Amino acid sequence: MSTISPDRSTSEIKSVLHEERIFPPPEDFARSAHIRSMEEYERLYAESLNSPETFWARMAEKLHWFTRWHTVLEWNLPHARWFVGGTLNASYNCVDRHLNSWRRNKAAIIWEGEPGEVRTLTYQQLYREVCRFANVLKRMGISRGDRVAIYMPMVPELPIAMLACARIGATHSVVFGGFSAEALRDRINDARCKLVVTADGGWRRGSEVRLKAAVDEALQQTPSVERCIVVRRTGSPVRMEPGRDFWWHELVETVDDHCPPEELDSEHPLYILYTSGTTGKPKGILHTTGGYLLQTALTTEWVFDLRDEDIYWCTADIGWVTGHSYVVYGPLANGATVLMYEGAPNYPEPDRFWELIERHRVTIFYTAPTAIRSFIRWGEQWPLKHDLSSLRLLGSVGEPINPEAWMWYREVIGKGRCPIVDTWWQTETGAIMISPLPGATPTKPGSATRPLPGVEADIRTKDGRSVGPNEGGYLVITRPWPSMMRTIWGDDERYRKQYWSEIEGVYFTGDGARRDEDGYYWVMGRVDDVINVSGHRLGTAEVESALVSHEAVAEAAVVGRPDEIKGSAIVAFVTLEAGRTPSEELREELKRHVVKEIGALARPDEIRFTDALPKTRSGKIMRRLLRELAASGVVRGDTTTLEDFSVLEKLRMEEE
Ligand code: WT7
Repeated sequence: MSTISPDRSTSEIKSVLHEERIFPPPEDFARSAHIRSMEEYERLYAESLNSPETFWARMAEKLHWFTRWHTVLEWNLPHARWFVGGTLNASYNCVDRHLNSWRRNKAAIIWEGEPGEVRTLTYQQLYREVCRFANVLKRMGISRGDRVAIYMPMVPELPIAMLACARIGATHSVVFGGFSAEALRDRINDARCKLVVTADGGWRRGSEVRLKAAVDEALQQTPSVERCIVVRRTGSPVRMEPGRDFWWHELVETVDDHCPPEELDSEHPLYILYTSGTTGKPKGILHTTGGYLLQTALTTEWVFDLRDEDIYWCTADIGWVTGHSYVVYGPLANGATVLMYEGAPNYPEPDRFWELIERHRVTIFYTAPTAIRSFIRWGEQWPLKHDLSSLRLLGSVGEPINPEAWMWYREVIGKGRCPIVDTWWQTETGAIMISPLPGATPTKPGSATRPLPGVEADIRTKDGRSVGPNEGGYLVITRPWPSMMRTIWGDDERYRKQYWSEIEGVYFTGDGARRDEDGYYWVMGRVDDVINVSGHRLGTAEVESALVSHEAVAEAAVVGRPDEIKGSAIVAFVTLEAGRTPSEELREELKRHVVKEIGALARPDEIRFTDALPKTRSGKIMRRLLRELAASGVVRGDTTTLEDFSVLEKLRMEEE
């Protein structure tokens, strides 16, 4: 292996290297699936690479266009324009289109709140709500190109607000409800949002997450925001600032039930979604309309083998890209019935998910390895209490799934009947890139298998050499694809540098991987300073800058330590300002400080105080050493570039 992933333990890599089990697609699946055999996959795949424009033009028929495009792709590395000249509307494609068939009476969203209430919206009802909120937005002065921040719990008003933005051509920026007021403020300011949509609060593990209070704090320092619309969800008292804050339910009372969809350019910005990178500042990933909608819709159909009878449940929060692409845009563009759940998987008991599957007869279930590992720990008595026979397909996303978890998922949840699709992709790719097709691809536990049609991947060395079978390297994508990010909002230079300059001429994913003799991809995890904590992506630099913003902290270095449940645990090495002494209280205070700066997802698991950090002669922090130290307490390998050996000795002592 030329690359060692900081995000994966050596023992795990070994177990993946020895994985030899193969599971062919179940026969009944292969008989009726959208793509039924490897021959069919190979044919489609070859066509997609040999004549990409013909291929994508045919695929694009799947969407409703107001005006047809004249050019499929304009590629000016690193900038792509897809379906140039075409106009469409994402909200029209996700809603209106289903109204002139029997689907108008089909459930679009079945929602269950954490306290247990259930709400169902048919496509017709969804249409009315989306139109009404679109009219509200217009009345609030929002028009084409304006940015709208959405900071909400998992309630139906969240997808409604997104689709309403898409309807009038406003660009939404959804901020995950678990982020702090500070994180929200920074994201609002970066995108210069004009309006914020939020709720009084949401339910999580029986307590209220007070979203409006966080918005109030954020809006102290957001000059671009003019108004705020608040959904009443928990009913707890909130402060409403006259002239600025309005109740959703009051506004929608006074508007029309119809709102014509804007005819938008294929490249019209659909949304910005912030994600962590290698610097302290999150990146606003920009996705546009035509290509994004096409590839999310297409992959939802292929990978989940979606049918009209399905009840489809992706457990991701809409605040992450998985929720954007596979709770909202992909499934709704296909006219699917989507289950949406507000709360925690272990509330009131660790069988809430299995109860939901049984109650709603879920057929497709898509979740993250970190959740699966928690279920394993909670014990199989919880799923065994429930009738899970409605399930026909299981999906995994967000991080490498270890073969042990894969097998448990297959046996205990899928009863050996359901194919598993391990889907590799990123916020930046917009849609699933590497994944089995459940009716065609034989699966191997721990491998995302092969790239989907239209996706050309490779494993390369830093200097661009394509490596041989089973040799480790960097996972890259070697040609543009429709749902690729278009730029980093407000920072095209960073887009060019981080994604298209690391390895000459190709898209750099930041992941290390190998490809086996069957062409199957085995993704090992990040090779940059990004860590995966419970399926959430976090930049170590973000946590570091949160730490050094505390007055007691002089310097901080944050690394991931392999963790059985979370994937990575957050370990921070901290040096203090002169005059400050380490204490248990300070440790707790620093943890709280990080939560305040970023959100609970960034709370360090461990803080280690040290006199100094190990650095190279040029002053770079030696993270590899810190990672090894965090993981095992011992440092192996070459340390000759260390500036001060005694630092290492001190860190070792800290360990004891
Ligand atoms: C990173 C992207 C878009 C999915 C949700 C996370 C890791 C994602 C897999 C997988 C191995 C995976 C990669 C990737 N990742 N899926 N099936 N197998 N690793 O999106 O927050 O943008 O993170 O998640 O490291 O680069 P994200």
